[in-house]
Amino acid sequence: MTAATETGSNKDRVIIFDTTLRDGEQCPGATMTFDEKLEVAELLDEMGVDIIEAGFPAASDGDFESVAEIARRSNNAVICGLSRTGLADIDRCGAAIKPAKRGRIHTFISTSPLHMSVKLGMTPEQVLQATIDAVTRARKWTDDVEWSAEDATRTEIDFMCKIVEAAIKAGATTINLPDTVGYTTPQEYQAMFETVRARVPNSDKAIFSVHCHNDLGMAVANSLAGLAGGARQIECTINGIGERAGNAALEEVIMAIRTRQDALPYDTAIETTMLNRASKLVSAVTSFPVQYNKAIVGRNAFAHESGIHQHGMLKSSLTYEIMTPESVGVSKTSLVMGKHSGRAAFREKLKEMGYELGENALNDAFRRFKDLADRKKIVYDEDIAALVDDEIVNANDRFKVTALTVIAGTAGPQSAALTMEIDGVKQTHQATGNGPVDAIFNAITALIPHKANLELYQVHAVTGGTDAQAEVSVRLSEDGREVTGKGADPDTLVASARAYVAALNKLVINRGREKAQGAGAG
Ligand code: KIV
Ligand code: ZN
Repeated sequence: MTAATETGSNKDRVIIFDTTLRDGEQCPGATMTFDEKLEVAELLDEMGVDIIEAGFPAASDGDFESVAEIARRSNNAVICGLSRTGLADIDRCGAAIKPAKRGRIHTFISTSPLHMSVKLGMTPEQVLQATIDAVTRARKWTDDVEWSAEDATRTEIDFMCKIVEAAIKAGATTINLPDTVGYTTPQEYQAMFETVRARVPNSDKAIFSVHCHNDLGMAVANSLAGLAGGARQIECTINGIGERAGNAALEEVIMAIRTRQDALPYDTAIETTMLNRASKLVSAVTSFPVQYNKAIVGRNAFAHESGIHQHGMLKSSLTYEIMTPESVGVSKTSLVMGKHSGRAAFREKLKEMGYELGENALNDAFRRFKDLADRKKIVYDEDIAALVDDEIVNANDRFKVTALTVIAGTAGPQSAALTMEIDGVKQTHQATGNGPVDAIFNAITALIPHKANLELYQVHAVTGGTDAQAEVSVRLSEDGREVTGKGADPDTLVASARAYVAALNKLVINRGREKAQGAGAG
């Protein structure tokens, strides 16, 4: 079976399977709230992603509900849920995807000798039977069933061929062979697909899929090599977030295919001008900053600093640019914003940057923009993005910072007087600390008692200049759960308070999520 071509072109269509909300969300600290997941799913759907893996329904009630709600709302994409091979898990997954126009169950089990013996304590025969049973059960819920051989790249080839054949015979329509531990090389991965497709007699009845982790920095290269081996589905995440070093980055895969059609003659349905927006949204909701030199969506991806490069660029952008910033949604600024800009111009600017806010959020963002413009000479697009992301992510929070006064300097102890709105009620507390940030965090803890540990405190300037906004990330952990919060403000201490409180808001939302024992997948 090959992927359908809808475009009428003679190129093979590659199916884009996004797992930002499942594998991406599994990475420590990247937890998203229910509303954030819906927002990411809506954008992925609009961007042309074919399949959205929305979560792991058996892992928690929260995951079940978000998969079901995404299934209810999605317009175009197939909505997929992940499931272990246990029949109760499959049924839970089936129920979660039921509201979707088109739903998929993705069931997986480890097939490498190491995983089967050490992790599962199962014999190959038991793994084979569990696969058959799971796929058969999943087919009772939907005729779109994906089966994954976890740790495929360390699986013995004879067993792999045998189990793939059995999975297809039981009704699997997509076969995913993941490089779970990010160990393979492009040549090896391509050869694995060629061998399995050639040796498995019913291989033409399924679409083969790649799923690569980035432990050796080869996830995108390996994914593309899998296509050369005959795979026609790529599993990937926005910004490459995911377990450990992450997954193959969707934006890199897509732009490689688009830019190198000579070497990679495939079609996808992705609207590339939405890539930058998707990257910003995922970074905002996970509070995971995008590395400056990240391909495609990093802040420096289209910046030309050296004199020689700038000289070349002035003559022709082709000298140093293999794709245009506009093609990934980075617009050349047409509207310069400042303190005289009105609400209409602000709305227009947001539209240009790819944001669409409701009336209330727009009013709040505009108020903050005016405040910022009074304090800062030039308001850059990055400033607006930081402010709007902060507004979007923290709009429905239970806890809000409303006022902060800090006394800092050489004569300690430093102190912070903090006023917060907690469930709509204003409360103030004054605390001292070993430095101003410590004093603020102590005041927050007095107002919102909690036992979470501070794992990370990180500050970066959104733009250049001493009046730049500070963007602070705070990561907290509680009972093995990690959450990250982000806050932006020209005052680093206010941004710090906002970030800490944003993380606490997430922690409170996530407290109810009891993860099923051992539910984690690669
Ligand atoms: O990396 C992996 O093997 C996975 C599977 C669950 C598909 O994420
Ligand atoms: Zn994975």
